[in-house]
Amino acid sequence: MSEHKCDPKNRKKLNSKQRQEILPPAQVLMDICLGSHTVWADIGCGTGFFTIPLANEVKQVYALDIRAEMLSDLSESLTQLQIHNVKVLQSEENRFPLPDQLIDGILTSLVLHEVDQPIEFFRELNRILQTGGRLVVIEWAKASMEMGPPLDHRLSIQQLDDWALSTGFIKVKSWQWSENFIGIEYCKKS
Ligand SMILES: C[S@@+](CC[C@H](N)C(=O)[O-])C[C@H]1O[C@@H](n2cnc3c(N)ncnc32)[C@H](O)[C@@H]1O
Repeated sequence: MSEHKCDPKNRKKLNSKQRQEILPPAQVLMDICLGSHTVWADIGCGTGFFTIPLANEVKQVYALDIRAEMLSDLSESLTQLQIHNVKVLQSEENRFPLPDQLIDGILTSLVLHEVDQPIEFFRELNRILQTGGRLVVIEWAKASMEMGPPLDHRLSIQQLDDWALSTGFIKVKSWQWSENFIGIEYCKKS
């Protein structure tokens, strides 16, 4: 497994107040513009930083992560908050336990820089999306800064575009949230 993976021991930091301030989930989801009747997957959901607000906006969310510890915290929060439209599933590195073309939109936040085989990962994202479906990638901006991963672990927009465009996506738009985070929306080609 890649040495860049988020250590589950540090998972409490994922929902920190500081993160809420520099990457406000409500603002990000508003910018993405979700549809209330849509089905989304949060791939690499962690403890649910985006899963929970996403569930309040859309019909159904599939929350996937490779780490059981993350999913267990998320399940606990879902129970406490009485959120019933999230299905929590443990996945493998490049294999998501979902049928082909089930999903209208995918959110994958701060996951790609941890992924071992990005092309395989993008292919799997493509497989579960319906044609015309949306893929929103959020990543650390490729710049040196005190917080977050070192510069050489960060991904350039060019790198993300190359992977996406070579696996059946077209680029739709991009965002920047604070100086720290970028977002890119791709669409699955027909
Ligand atoms: C930095 S955390 C981000 C969590 C969450 N998306 C957020 O924004 O708070 C990265 C998460 O991706 C998960 N992850 C890493 N590689 C993965 C893969 N190949 N498939 C699914 N999840 C993965 C890690 O276990 C971790 O929970």
